[in-house]
Amino acid sequence: MIELHNIVKSYLVAGEDLVVLKDIHLTIEQGEFVAIMGPSGSGKSTLMNIIGCLDKPTSGEYHLQKKLVSDYNEKELAGVRNQSIGFVFQQFQLLPRLTALQNVELPMIYAGIGKKERIERAEDALDKVGLKDRMNHLPNELSGGQKQRVAIARSIVNEPSIILADEPTGALDTKTGEQIMDMFTLLNKEGTTVILVTHEAEVASYAERTVFVRDGELTSADEVVGHEALEKLRTKHDSAEQNNERGNFVNLEDVFEETETDDGTKGEEEATH
Ligand SMILES: Nc1ncnc2c1ncn2[C@@H]1O[C@H](COP(=O)(O)OP(=O)(O)OP(=O)(O)O)[C@@H](O)[C@H]1O
Ligand SMILES: [Mg+2]
Repeated sequence: MIELHNIVKSYLVAGEDLVVLKDIHLTIEQGEFVAIMGPSGSGKSTLMNIIGCLDKPTSGEYHLQKKLVSDYNEKELAGVRNQSIGFVFQQFQLLPRLTALQNVELPMIYAGIGKKERIERAEDALDKVGLKDRMNHLPNELSGGQKQRVAIARSIVNEPSIILADEPTGALDTKTGEQIMDMFTLLNKEGTTVILVTHEAEVASYAERTVFVRDGELTSADEVVGHEALEKLRTKHDSAEQNNERGNFVNLEDVFEETETDDGTKGEEEATH
């Protein structure tokens, strides 16, 4: 469903062509969970931006769901993004003056959905990420992990077929990062294609497949990560396949149960009911 052929991206810098992606060929099927790894500056975000229709390749063909989107104009690309793609970023990218609920409503405003339905769906999405009780908080009244959960709620509210996450755990501690990864795993189990960029083998190990980028080209794992990280990737990928160990969550609240208990809110709630 995602097919990149001969994708080149270059920028004109000080009168010279800087080639950032060189002849990329990559196919990702609907329902896959793919990690992208590579050194800083290797072109990972550039590649994600092209896949996400946020940017256009300089040359080459990009077919998304059988449509040649590399030929689309800005307006058409915006339509594809709004309908088919959810985005999650390292720094959350929430609008600071809007509440969690209003932030999640945004993609639906762009999609022209009426207010009543917007609120209902935004509430459902926040409920799904375990943040029902934080809906009216502003971003600065939320923890890092909670902000990222709002961002995930925002990314899924239009029911995209693809979620793109550029270092989604980069600004979070390990435990919170694991919870965010469990959430992506669950969304993937529900059928959403998940593509994420990360520097960490532990994070990449949640994916079924890892793609390695170096100097703007796809390359083999050993060109990018050390032996130890490679082992980590292999073991996790293999055991996840064999035991289906990450597929045991009933819903996203289960994933976040621990967090809620940690800050005491859930315990109190239960006590008063
Ligand atoms: N708008 C631009 N104009 C010129 N050069 C750019 C532009 N955007 C990115 N680049 C260059 O393209 C290269 C790849 O950048 P990119 O952001 O894709 O790297 P990355 O792999 O995501 O790195 P990081 O891990 O640090 O996020 C870098 O050398 C960067 O300087
Ligand atoms: Mg980047």
